[in-house]
Amino acid sequence: MRYIEVRGEKLSVIGLGTWQFGSLEWGYGSAYLKEEAPRILRAAVDAGINVIDTAEIYGMGRSERAVGGAIKEIRDRVFLATKLAPIAPVPPVIQVRARMSARRLGVDRIDLYQLHWPNLIVPLRITMQGIRALLDSGLIRHAGVSNYSLERWKAADEALGRPVFSNQVEFSLIERKPLDGLVGFARAEDRLILAYSPLAKGFLSGKYSKNNLPSNAVRRANYLFRSENLERAADLLGTLGDLAKKYSAEPAQIALAWLIKKPNTIAIPGASSEAQARKNAEAADIELSDEDEEALQQAAEAFEPIRPSPRFGLRK
Ligand SMILES: NC(=O)c1ccc[n+]([C@@H]2O[C@H](COP(=O)([O-])OP(=O)(O)OC[C@H]3O[C@@H](n4cnc5c(N)ncnc54)[C@H](OP(=O)(O)O)[C@@H]3O)[C@@H](O)[C@H]2O)c1
Repeated sequence: MRYIEVRGEKLSVIGLGTWQFGSLEWGYGSAYLKEEAPRILRAAVDAGINVIDTAEIYGMGRSERAVGGAIKEIRDRVFLATKLAPIAPVPPVIQVRARMSARRLGVDRIDLYQLHWPNLIVPLRITMQGIRALLDSGLIRHAGVSNYSLERWKAADEALGRPVFSNQVEFSLIERKPLDGLVGFARAEDRLILAYSPLAKGFLSGKYSKNNLPSNAVRRANYLFRSENLERAADLLGTLGDLAKKYSAEPAQIALAWLIKKPNTIAIPGASSEAQARKNAEAADIELSDEDEEALQQAAEAFEPIRPSPRFGLRK
């Protein structure tokens, strides 16, 4: 495992995302939650992963409970991140909800407490009063945001009166917007980008095709997994496959290696099995050359999926 240091914290460049734990939309079932999830988390930590990401909203608390159960014996090996859903983020509510998350997680301190999405009604100044109180009381060690633009991240700094440690954003070969500003800011200011959906929900693993479409709700609702988009991605998936051969790796690992070559960036893939968690951890040790990084970027830029338009149906 490779680690980076951000504001004195040693963080594995690959973390573990746990939206999958207990979330019906992933369709992994109850045996996955009870038996697989603790094993996945343990395999991840044994492979050197220390960043575990969850949220109060995942499975309506089930993910936090599962994570809490699984880290009981290994709390000191984990940098634990959870998120506050943007529902009435005002100080008294934040106090209660943070304590509830800590209780479900079975901890007296949360390492990173993130605002899950911007709330466009409650001013950041008000929300950050609540977050500041949590920092001052020691219930949380760092404050983070998620799905924030650069401008909003800077506004969050100002409202908090201290640097907001991290921004968790969608970031992968498919979704490359964080390269326009967020990554540069994180590097210059000693902050962290947590890249979510780093495998584009499994799309970049190359195992899905028009003859092998995924069946769960998360992916059925995702435009990427339409047959025509899987076909359009042939060149990108082919490049991933070629590089996988070159580095004796798997396409998903190459997709992760591309991402964690970026400064101050860690990827937090979810996993449906222990084997995947281990493979993802191993991706930390792949040293992609600059030329291969560039070749992947070009293949990704050449992929033009048909995207949904809310008003006019599908558009390019
Ligand atoms: N802040 C936010 O708004 C936000 C939003 C979304 C996600 N997140 C966080 O980010 C985490 C990861 O994102 P995500 O779950 O959306 O997408 P992801 O990590 O891109 O995809 C996860 C899925 O990819 C497949 N996979 C994982 N490792 C693999 C491997 N080595 N080889 C082949 N397939 C593999 C698995 O599905 P199959 O095996 O079923 O194919 C797995 O469930 C979440 O768990 C959550 O913690 C945050």
